[in-house]
Amino acid sequence: MSSYETILVERREAVTLVTLNRPQALNALNSQVLDDLLAAMAAFDADATQGCAVVTGSERAFAAGADIKEMQSQGFADMYAHDFFAGWDRFTRTRKPIIAAVSGYALGGGCELAMMCDFILAADNAKFGQPEIKLAVSPGMGGSQRLTRAVGKAKAMEMCLTGRMMDAAEAERAGLASRVVQAAEVVEEAVKTAATIAGMAPLAVLANKEMVNAAFETSLSAGVQFERRLFHGLFGTADQKEGMAAFVEKRPGAWTGK
Ligand code: CAA
Repeated sequence: MSSYETILVERREAVTLVTLNRPQALNALNSQVLDDLLAAMAAFDADATQGCAVVTGSERAFAAGADIKEMQSQGFADMYAHDFFAGWDRFTRTRKPIIAAVSGYALGGGCELAMMCDFILAADNAKFGQPEIKLAVSPGMGGSQRLTRAVGKAKAMEMCLTGRMMDAAEAERAGLASRVVQAAEVVEEAVKTAATIAGMAPLAVLANKEMVNAAFETSLSAGVQFERRLFHGLFGTADQKEGMAAFVEKRPGAWTGK
């Protein structure tokens, strides 16, 4: 267990479990949470024994947003000069996969953090929303873009304009969450899923994450070309030889990460 001010970080074999830990503020994301998460994710990426991370909160709240009390007195000049929230872009540059295990409220920045992860496992009590409009502001950590890409314009626009929350079943139907599981099991299920990913050949994991993410950044033809080149590149790895030999010999692969 590593020590941070606002998060708990636990290594479960090859899985890094990160738990947001500001219960008094429903895990509201202040600058310290960002600093702690960035440090934890940098350590995770750099640690060759770690293959996949899970980010979670409490059963009541994944995170109820950016910290309103921290932002309340800020003016345009401060926000603009410091490019407030730009640090979150570094979280999205984590190269290994991150699963969000979402119980309870994932609102505003909480919903945005969940969407910065590679996929979302939702507990049956999860509630997703972008209620910033009720504070006379807007999403600021990517919600207007990532939510729209995840659920389409109609639902994203309605949620941003009204602040309406989406429950877990709707989130799964709409493509925001990959699956819904019981609240009591969501963290264990996410850790189990992360362990499956961590058991894959590491270079193939990086390549798969990179190519799916390319779908959001490029045209179809450029994305397909990018995928094909990474696919070709994997044939230069020892693990590809091992993976295909293991299939033919009907045994599990033993990866070297080379
Ligand atoms: N920032 C700071 N503190 C917060 C917070 C937030 N986003 N959300 C909750 N808290 C605090 C509350 O102020 C309260 O603290 P006190 O006990 O000191 O008063 C504590 O957490 C418990 O919250 P509530 O008493 O409000 O709990 P509830 O069960 O009655 O309501 C809730 C839960 C519906 C989630 C409600 O807390 C709420 O509406 N929170 C704010 C949601 C929100 O607007 N999020 C967007 C923030 S802006 C943003 O995220 C910008 C962006 O794009 C990144």
